Amino acid sequence: MSDAKLIIDGREIELPVVVGSEGEVGIDIGALRGATGMITLDPGYGNTGSCQSSVTFIDGEKGILRYRGYPIEQVASKATFPEVAYLLIYGHLPNRKELERWLGSLTRHTLIHEDMKKFFEGYLPSTHPMAILSSMVASLSTYYPDPDPATDPNINIVRLIAKAATVAAFSYKKSIGQPIIYPRNDLTYTRNFLHMMFAVPTEAYEVPDVLNEALNMLLILHADHEQNCSTSTVRMVGSSQANIFASISAGINALWGPLHGGANQKVIEMLEMIQADGGNYEKYVDLAKDKESGFRLMGFGHRVYKNYDPRARLIKRVADDVFEQLGVDDPLLDIARNLEEIALEDDYFVERKLYPNVDFYSGIIYRAMGIPTNMFTVMFALGRLPGWIAHWKEMRDDPTSRINRPRQIYTGPTERDYTPVNQRD
Ligand SMILES: CC(C)(COP(=O)(O)OP(=O)(O)OC[C@H]1O[C@@H](n2cnc3c(N)ncnc32)[C@H](O)[C@@H]1OP(=O)(O)O)[C@@H](O)C(=O)NCCC(=O)NCCS
Repeated sequence: MSDAKLIIDGREIELPVVVGSEGEVGIDIGALRGATGMITLDPGYGNTGSCQSSVTFIDGEKGILRYRGYPIEQVASKATFPEVAYLLIYGHLPNRKELERWLGSLTRHTLIHEDMKKFFEGYLPSTHPMAILSSMVASLSTYYPDPDPATDPNINIVRLIAKAATVAAFSYKKSIGQPIIYPRNDLTYTRNFLHMMFAVPTEAYEVPDVLNEALNMLLILHADHEQNCSTSTVRMVGSSQANIFASISAGINALWGPLHGGANQKVIEMLEMIQADGGNYEKYVDLAKDKESGFRLMGFGHRVYKNYDPRARLIKRVADDVFEQLGVDDPLLDIARNLEEIALEDDYFVERKLYPNVDFYSGIIYRAMGIPTNMFTVMFALGRLPGWIAHWKEMRDDPTSRINRPRQIYTGPTERDYTPVNQRD
């Protein structure tokens, strides 16, 4: 493809065009400021490619999501979460030996330093587990300094994935006042996590298969989503060469917001509100269409998907399995189904291409699994961890990457003189 031509003030400059492996086209404006003194302005970054990446491909118009080339439908139904984590981070599916080594090291590193347990004592029982998770992940850097790249460059990646699950489960136990349950090395990653969440020292606990399978798929569906808000945050922080724990902790905080990972919690709160208000979902669809109301249907719409979110389709199937096998009868599920049905036919939603996103059903499944609402975003974070790490690693391994430092168009006051306080109005 030929270069792009930009004409500014009668002057023409040529800007190279970059084409990705799926035919995505970008104009490389790296020379723009040097040649013209101008920058581009793109608040919200809807038109800006921040990097070139080989981790995940999304075609929002067609509803396509692929991890390292593999369709989400295949990985979600055939792989295990640790296998997907390996794929995202190292770029290929592990062979048998690599997988054994990977699973072995993820298992061996699940314990957290005993001293770290004291941190949990400092939090109020009502502390949001996302605050605990981000603080604990940042604190891991105090125990595990950057490894020697020559001997064991990836050890902190393993530690992070293994210990984050333990921290997440401990934060839940703290919030309900139960004793923490130590990890068990004879269990798989997902079974071990569910065990730490739901076992108590006084009783035997067997992880139900349906919970294990649902969790495996939910974590895979959340594992990466290219340059979303939290991943971009991880890359931004990591671009200063901050360590992996500090960078991922920043991503966890970015995920917390209701417009991002916090949406699954907001979906449940919205459904509960509709239920408490007599289940009149039509009223809330109307409210969402009324700009003055400031109300949005949580779990609908996506910056990138302007077609059905492929993850939402898969997750809906999991929801059906979990509800059927656990025999759960949750009125919120009916409200959700009705909302979806009505919104998919309503002109407002159709015109704006607002479809249910992955968060619309994930919260309802977590609820059926017995995971409390304030843990939903933590579950999302556990799933997203490999994606964040993959992007952090991709950036750190790229010798051409630079510290991320956007520019701005300044709109504040022009130069003025300082006035002493007794001369101010
Ligand atoms: C995800 C989200 C932040 C994407 O935002 P965005 O790409 O900036 O899209 P916009 O906010 O510009 O929305 C485009 C239009 O759809 C409307 N819209 C978007 N999401 C809506 C929703 N959930 N309910 C009602 N209207 C919505 C906007 O009001 C806007 O209408 P307009 O063109 O008449 O002004 C947004 O859809 C949203 O807030 N959804 C609810 C929260 C959520 O589920 N987040 C999880 C994301 S995985």
